[in-house]
Amino acid sequence: MQGPIHLAVLLSGTGRTLQNLVTKIEEGLLDARIEVVVSNRGDAYGLRRARDHGIPAVVVERKSYKDVKEFSNEITARLNKHTVDLIIMAGFNCLYEIPDKYMGKVMNIHPALIPSFCGRDYWGEKVHQAALDYGVKVSGCTVHFADNDYDNGPIILQRTVPVVEGDTPKSLAARVFEEECRAYPDAIRLFQQGRLKIEGRKVTIL
Ligand code: GRF
Repeated sequence: MQGPIHLAVLLSGTGRTLQNLVTKIEEGLLDARIEVVVSNRGDAYGLRRARDHGIPAVVVERKSYKDVKEFSNEITARLNKHTVDLIIMAGFNCLYEIPDKYMGKVMNIHPALIPSFCGRDYWGEKVHQAALDYGVKVSGCTVHFADNDYDNGPIILQRTVPVVEGDTPKSLAARVFEEECRAYPDAIRLFQQGRLKIEGRKVTIL
């Protein structure tokens, strides 16, 4: 791919992941342009961050649509107004039914080592609480291609962190998030370089 990769970002919350990408772009560490941000919540702080950086930001409220299909169609219509090479889910807590044209072009990041502590009910600090309750010695993050199920598509890369004595969901989340800030840009660069080959559940890095 020549020139910057054109990204669209889907989010529901604070937009820390969006902020990380914006910062990496500004620092010259990621050759990308964020064309549009879509939020399913009008009160998401991520919308403000987008607008502060001159990125078009739109709201598609889940509750305004009768089902996932109609909601997803509206998101797709919003994305189609822009040049989009890759869609980045960045703390997006709804299901987006991916149309054929974007299949294999949607990434998600999850703050645990999939297939552990993932799926519809695992978001925010619940993920880290579950990891601590289980007693795991390592946790981490997973970047994967999204499909039409929560946290389910082929894994691109994972980064691990230790769980340490006295960890709380907050302290573990902070350690994991540091790795997320490296992992997502890495995965985007690999995609941009055409180095991700998907075969069934497996992604080969060429
Ligand atoms: C990150 O931990 C990411 O793994 C998960 O949502 C969090 C980012 O959300 N998918 P936000 O940017 O803080 O709203």
